[in-house]
Formats: sequence, C-alpha cells, structure tokens
Amino acid sequence: MAEARDDREAKEDAMRLSEAEIAVHWKEESYFYPNARFIGQANLTDPSVTERFAEKNFPECFREYADLLTWDKYWTTTLDTSKAPFWKWFVGGRLNVAYNCVDRHLGKYGNKAAIVYVPEPEDEAGQTITYNELYHRVNEVAAVLRDFAGLRTGDRVTIHMPMVPELPITMLACARLGVIHSVVFGGFSGEACGARIVDSGSRVLISMDGYYRSGKVIDHKANADIAVAKAESEGQKVEKVLVWRRFPDRSASPTPMVEGRDFVVNDLLKPHRGAIVPPVSMPAEAPLFLMYTSGSTGKPKGCQHSTGGYLSYVAGTSRFIQDIHPTDVYWCMADIGWITGHSYIVYGPLALAATTVMYEGVPTYPDAGRPWRIAVRLGVNIFHTSPTAIRMLRKVGPDEPKKYPLNFKCMTTVGEPIEPEAWRWYYENVGKGQAAVTDTWWQTETGGFVCSTKPALDPMKPGSAGPPMPGIYPIIYDEEGKEIPAGSGKAGNICIRNPWPGIMQTIWGDPDRFVKNYYGKYNRNPTSQDWRDWPYFAGDGATWAPDGYIRILGRVDDVINVAGHRLGTKELESACLTVPEIAEAAVVPIVDAERGRVPEVYVSLKPGMSADGVPEKVSKAIETTIGKIARPRVVRIVPDMPKTRSGKIMRRVLASISNQMDYGDITTLSNPEVVEQIRVSVQGKEKVATKAGPDDIKRFGETT
Ligand code: WTA
Repeated sequence: MAEARDDREAKEDAMRLSEAEIAVHWKEESYFYPNARFIGQANLTDPSVTERFAEKNFPECFREYADLLTWDKYWTTTLDTSKAPFWKWFVGGRLNVAYNCVDRHLGKYGNKAAIVYVPEPEDEAGQTITYNELYHRVNEVAAVLRDFAGLRTGDRVTIHMPMVPELPITMLACARLGVIHSVVFGGFSGEACGARIVDSGSRVLISMDGYYRSGKVIDHKANADIAVAKAESEGQKVEKVLVWRRFPDRSASPTPMVEGRDFVVNDLLKPHRGAIVPPVSMPAEAPLFLMYTSGSTGKPKGCQHSTGGYLSYVAGTSRFIQDIHPTDVYWCMADIGWITGHSYIVYGPLALAATTVMYEGVPTYPDAGRPWRIAVRLGVNIFHTSPTAIRMLRKVGPDEPKKYPLNFKCMTTVGEPIEPEAWRWYYENVGKGQAAVTDTWWQTETGGFVCSTKPALDPMKPGSAGPPMPGIYPIIYDEEGKEIPAGSGKAGNICIRNPWPGIMQTIWGDPDRFVKNYYGKYNRNPTSQDWRDWPYFAGDGATWAPDGYIRILGRVDDVINVAGHRLGTKELESACLTVPEIAEAAVVPIVDAERGRVPEVYVSLKPGMSADGVPEKVSKAIETTIGKIARPRVVRIVPDMPKTRSGKIMRRVLASISNQMDYGDITTLSNPEVVEQIRVSVQGKEKVATKAGPDDIKRFGETT
C-alpha cells in the first residue's frame, strides 16, 4: 500500500506542468512558396540532397559539410562510435578555426567587409572590418593572449562581453591558439559569470568597461569585479582580467582597475602591432568552446563543442538554410553570448566569407524603425531573428517596415515557436512577401539547426519548424519509449536517432551527467557502440504532421524559454532562497503574449517573517544571481506550498493556477485546502470552467 502511494506521489511530482504542456496548438496552416528569383540564386536547389543525406549514406553524407572547410590534414574516420555516446567526428583530421574563418579568405576576399559593426547611438560612426583587417586584429589579440596572458592550447578563458567587434575578434584569437573560450552572455550578472569561471577553471577573464543599452552606458567593469570575487570565494583564482575599452580615449566605467590584476587590452596591444601568430593546427575533436546553458538542475552545464565537427556543421547549415554566399550581407540580430550568435553570427557566416553585421544595442532603440534603417543602409539581404523580437517590433511599430525599402531574400527565425500570426506579419511586412522564411529548431547542445525547411526546396508552413535537416533522423517517443508516428496528431518527446557533426561532445567536467541527461531516457543498451541504440533526448515536446513537418511545443523539463533565452527553474528557485525571509520557492512558466513564456514565482515565508518588501527582494536576488532577463513577472507570497504527502512541492498545481487552467485532481496532496486559497488569490473567486481554456489549447499527449 505504502509503496503504491509513494509510487503515485513520485509520478505526480514528476508531472511538472512544463512549457510543452501549456503550448497553444494552432491549426495547421497552408503553404507559402519561395519565389523564382530566390530559387534562381539559392545554394541548395538540388532535391537529391534528401537522397544524399538519407540513412543509407550516413555518416559519409557529412563529408559534404566537412569539404566546405580547409583541412591541414584530411581526416580518416568520418564517425568513431567506439566510446558511445561520446561521438568523434572526422577523426585524424587537423584544422584551425581562425584560419578557416579568416586567413583562407584573404586571397579572394581580403578587401571585403567581414564584420560591420553598428553602435547603438545613431550618431556614432560604425566600423567596417575587412577580412584583411580582421586578420591583423585577430593576430594581435592572439599575441596578447599568448605572450601577455600566458594562454596555451587547451586552456579555458571566460569572456564576458557585450556586442562589440572585439568580442568575435577575441573568440577568433582564442581559436587561433586552440584556447577554449567560454563566452558568457553580457546581460548575465557578475555572479553568474563567476560561477561559469569556476566551472570552466578559467585563470583569465576578458571583459569590457561598458556598453550602450537603451541610450545609457552600462558599467560592465563592475561585473568583472563581482565575477572574480565570486570565483575566488569558490576556489578559482583569476590571475588576470583583460578589459576592453568601449571608447578609444577614455574609460566607460567609473569602477577602478585593480593594480596588477586588471589590464586595458587596448594598451596591451600596442607592443604587438603587426604581430603574426601562426594558427595552431588542432585535432578535429579538440574542444573549440564551452557554452553554458540551463538544465533541470540548479547548475548550468558547459556544453562542449568540437573544432572540426562543429565548424563543418555550422558552415553546412549556414550555406544550405540561410543561403549564405560570400556576396551576401547577413544580419543576425541575436547576441553572440548565446549559441545562435556563436554559430550564426561568428563561425558559420565567417567560414563562408560572408559579411556579418553586429548591432550593439536594443532593437527598438531609439524607435521601432531602427532595425529597418540599419538593414537598408547596409544593404542587408539575409535577416535572422527571434519570434520575441518579431512580436516586439510588431507591437511597437507594426507599420514601420513598410516605410523602408527592405530587400531580404531570406529570413530566419530561431529560439521559440512562432505563432502563425506573427509569422505572417514578418513575411508580409518585413519580407515584403518576397523573402523565403525558415523557422529553425535547434539547441545549444545541437550546435546548429536540426529542423528547418530548405528554403528553395520546401514550402513554408507558418507555425511549423518543418522537416528535419539533411542527415538528421528524428523520432517522437512517448514516456514509455513507444514511437508516436508522424500524422498521429499526438505530442511526445522529440529525439534524434543519430549523431551529427554539430552535436556537443560532453558536459564540461561532468560526462556522467551528459550521458544521463541526453541519453539516459531512451538508451537501449549502455554498453552499445552502435549509434542506433543511442537516441538523443532533446527535452522538447513536439508533434509530427502527416506532411513530415515538425512543430515544437516547448520544453518538457524544468527549463523555461523566456524571450528565447533558456532559464532553469531550479536556478531561479535557489536565487529566491538567498532572501532570508524565504522558506520555500517554486518557479513556474506562464504564457506571455510577447515574451513567449515568463517565470512566475511562488514563495512561502519562514514563520514569523514579515512579507514587507519581499517581492522586491526576490526580484533583486534573481537579478543579482542570474541577470535582468530572469526577472519574474510576479512574485506571489503564499501561506504554504501545495505538497505531496512526502513533502514535495507540486509545481504542476501552481503552474495550472498561474496559466488560468483547472488544477485537476489534488486529493493526494497533504494540504489540498491551500490550493483553493491560492487559486482564489490568483484567479479570483470565479472558477475556471475548462481544463485548459479555449478549444485550441490541448493538454500534452492529447490528440490534436
Ligand atoms: C526552443 C537556441 C520552437 C526549444 C537555438 C529548444 C524552439 C530551446 C525553436 C533551445 C524553434 C529553439 N521552434 N522552439 N524554431 N528553436 N527552440 O539552447 O525549446 O538557447 O529546446 O538554443 O529553444 O534553446 P537554446
């Protein structure tokens, strides 16, 4: 009896109301077709690609991507599965990423713009950095990193910088030396940066004094001090902090430099003018970078990406899906501090010798016409952004794009599901009904796109990411590991049956967590060396339509995708617990018209504590430990958390209440009376009639 009850409780506890479960299931839309002018110039127009990348040609099909690169030594084994699931791609090969993204283009494209930088203030001159200039700047920074900072191949370095050209230059300088960079999103707090310094074991932090955000200069140097203090409190000494200057002639920050520890990079560069640092020839499987991302536990995980596999994959997908040619002016409005920026601002476009545009600031600053003015002035013809940015630009300036002669041949969205309505606005107004639109589904872990329409070959269907990418073989499983076939109308957990070159290699310092997290759920045999036994569990819910188009519903775990940024609910909860008054905290995702999902926080207080100012303190604590992006919409103080008899917090119940849904059966709770009390305080006296509101919302796993 007791055992049966425990079992049931454990099951209930596992039932978090995840993002996927609160997803809105819009109806299937009809197709849109790319125009002939686009098809006429596209990189990928040969339908045989499906055959070429079919399973019978796996893994050799990926030679096509690897052959986009220049190898110092060509590889001998395409895929080594002997240490599954630690896949090794292009084994025996050697190459350098900086060489591939810069040096090899000098002959043909030396005088072509590699990076065009647009500062936030509209009256400040931008920078156009040619491939020749990029080459020199990368070499000089590499000289500083090697000769001044003492960084060597295999060392890790943390980079906490805003969107300025010095960021990709620093990354490429690391890549030139085989130094593993770990770029932390500039908007993350100093503490969050410190935690990542510790995990990666970085002795050097590269930062910047300040940058513009909505017209104000942010003091970013202050974050470096907090990061170093946090790292040192956890035993990781930071020997040197290299600080870039935002303004050439003065510091942008009032925070003083620490004697003997902090150095201005712009000064360090002076003795290295004209330095040439030979690119270090790296094995294909050497790590190129770490990118920390949130998972189900409180600690962010360092996704380790490889040199040869990763670069091949981002070059291949940039070419096939974003249709990048060396003559294109490409603008991805993401931040380099996320995987999108790594793969599709820096490495993919530069590997293909494109011109990549970087914008420092907020898209709606000083008004909603800003992105369109930038695009017209620079002649941008490929545009890449997130549904959140689209929703925001549509809300504040629905008619702005019409005022500008935008001329995009193709446009991409990434990071979240896009509502058909937002998609149509994007297509009609921004793309002028001419641009091919791709909705790309992927993750920090996947390195590059894994699902998207091929723009000249597959019609677009608003609201659906589309078919799998060439060489990616997905499958949707139910909780028990039974396949949910395409066309069944049911949602399940999307997995990818095979490895691909862009997949992460491991979680830095925690290989067991890597195996458990991504393969534990559906692995068929833990000792197998056959890739077929190792489906990759993506952590997303999805449905697969009869036409082969996949629709991603959202996360099925404790991760919330806020405005396209991934946050772990456990991270937010531990931040709440740093407030002395708080006894318990639960964070749940709620649907938000603009930001997709936002976190809502429930807290209970320790006995005798006053609620005075608690919501503000909780918000502040989240901002300090994680960053402003994680700020909750509401902090609700409750008398007690709904709990199972074994004392576990039932987040599912709280999430239902916050999302105006019925909370379902609560008879097994130890304190069911508190649930109705919470419900009334959030939803009001009137009971919500339906299970999940309007007809078009269905519960996860239900037939659509
Ligand atoms: C979500 C961002 C729907 C998904 C590249 C995934 C998407 C998480 C899409 C990864 C899309 C990404 N449609 N959902 N086109 N693209 N997602 O690691 O839940 O920051 O698991 O990588 O974003 O977020 P991450």
